[in-house]
Amino acid sequence: MKLCLPRRPGLDVVAPAGVGRWWREEAAVVGQVDAVSRLDPLPIAIQAAIALVGVLAVLVASSPATVRDVRGAICVPRTGREHLARSRARPGRPAPGTGVQRPCPPAGPRPRVEVIRSDAGRPGAMGAVNFTDQDAAGRARAASGPLTRAVLAALPAPSIFNTQPWRWRVYDDQAELWADRSRQLATVDPDGRMLTLSCGIALHHAVTALAAAGQTAGIDRLPDPDRPDLLARLWITGRHRPEPADVRRYQAMLIRRTDRRPFPDLPVSAAGMDALCEAAEQGGAHLHVLHPDQVVELTVAAGRAAEAELADPEYRAELATWTHRPATAGDGIPPATTAPPARRPVPLREFTPDGPAPDTDGDRSARYALLFTDVDTPTTWLTAGEALSAVLLAAVAADLSVSPMSDVVEVPASRHLLSGILAGIGHPLIALRIGVAEPTRGLPPVPRRPAESVIEIEGGERR
Ligand SMILES: Cc1cc2nc3c(=O)[nH]c(=O)nc-3n(C[C@H](O)[C@H](O)[C@H](O)COP(=O)(O)O)c2cc1C
Repeated sequence: MKLCLPRRPGLDVVAPAGVGRWWREEAAVVGQVDAVSRLDPLPIAIQAAIALVGVLAVLVASSPATVRDVRGAICVPRTGREHLARSRARPGRPAPGTGVQRPCPPAGPRPRVEVIRSDAGRPGAMGAVNFTDQDAAGRARAASGPLTRAVLAALPAPSIFNTQPWRWRVYDDQAELWADRSRQLATVDPDGRMLTLSCGIALHHAVTALAAAGQTAGIDRLPDPDRPDLLARLWITGRHRPEPADVRRYQAMLIRRTDRRPFPDLPVSAAGMDALCEAAEQGGAHLHVLHPDQVVELTVAAGRAAEAELADPEYRAELATWTHRPATAGDGIPPATTAPPARRPVPLREFTPDGPAPDTDGDRSARYALLFTDVDTPTTWLTAGEALSAVLLAAVAADLSVSPMSDVVEVPASRHLLSGILAGIGHPLIALRIGVAEPTRGLPPVPRRPAESVIEIEGGERR
């Protein structure tokens, strides 16, 4: 099967042997090959035309009635305030992060670019921007640039409870990734490990989109000690000719899903597991594949975690909040996508704990692995997120499905058990359930927040 990328002269991508059956089927269904071509860097003439349209938009839209500041709505959504209030009100429990309520990024000039149409739920789709202020030409440049396209492409990144706890600020010369503490899970994730891990995935998704578009990227992680919520700065360092693997990773981003259905009773190949381990190493973390006797310890850890969390009314309240989100929120976990009841070697998080009892067996051929780092700091949490993204994308290419299991690290006693499995050589950040993938197109969709809630276009030079 030969996949051709239209409108990119000289680049024909031949799906190589590593790309499996499931990937090919899904690719054909969603037609995302064409979406990749949308990431092409625009020729200068087109960029100039877009900038001109921006200037014209200013002239047309110079009536004060058309000026709308969108940042206020972005900074602290109401749900986030509720989470922070709940965590602060709880004696003995540290507030998210370091115990201090973290502000949104410091107020700079108010952005007056409004994303008026976004298809974030449709992978690879772009938003449309409306320019309503005096600096519209500059913002048009940033909005039409590769960095904006890359952060748009990162909107479908997976996250804990699908909270999507990140915000992007895009300038002409760089994009900033910020932790959105208002979306931190106060009970499940008081230290922000899972939040930072999720943001690392978004960062890797953006870099992957740049790579597929022929851009090499520089990353500065946790660049400002005074602003720990500024997780990364991302900029373009040059051009390269995209390899088929770059495009494959991008395409994997478009079709990857968390599939909680029991895995089919098919063995996971050693080559597939090796590919995941290599992806983790290249991403800056490690993957330890559990031996059968260690799976028993994981089972114990999962059981203890479930018991402790489900006995906590605040955990149950947080779970209920994020599995029953309003349709307009664009986040959370729809109950239809949660794990169907099944007797499994390692129980999955019960998103609907009072649901029916299991009546089938599943996951008998599943493999389990721990993603871990050498040290346990916010920087390594971020790097581990990037590595996790690399693992998830490598799995798609290997016809494997990976579903994250973070409950086993959320409860200290369970995390301690997993540290024992690693014999002290590292810090476990998340467990992964791995199986042979089945087509995911029958799965109900999982929502994503609209681009205008996640991305601020600032324009101008940052450095
Ligand atoms: C850091 C992290 C932790 C997660 N923990 C769990 C978990 O414990 N159980 C689970 O079923 N899914 C878990 N997930 C999967 C998310 O719920 C899922 O990515 C999100 O709902 C979006 O769905 P999608 O991956 O299909 O796009 C986790 C994902 C991330 C990134």
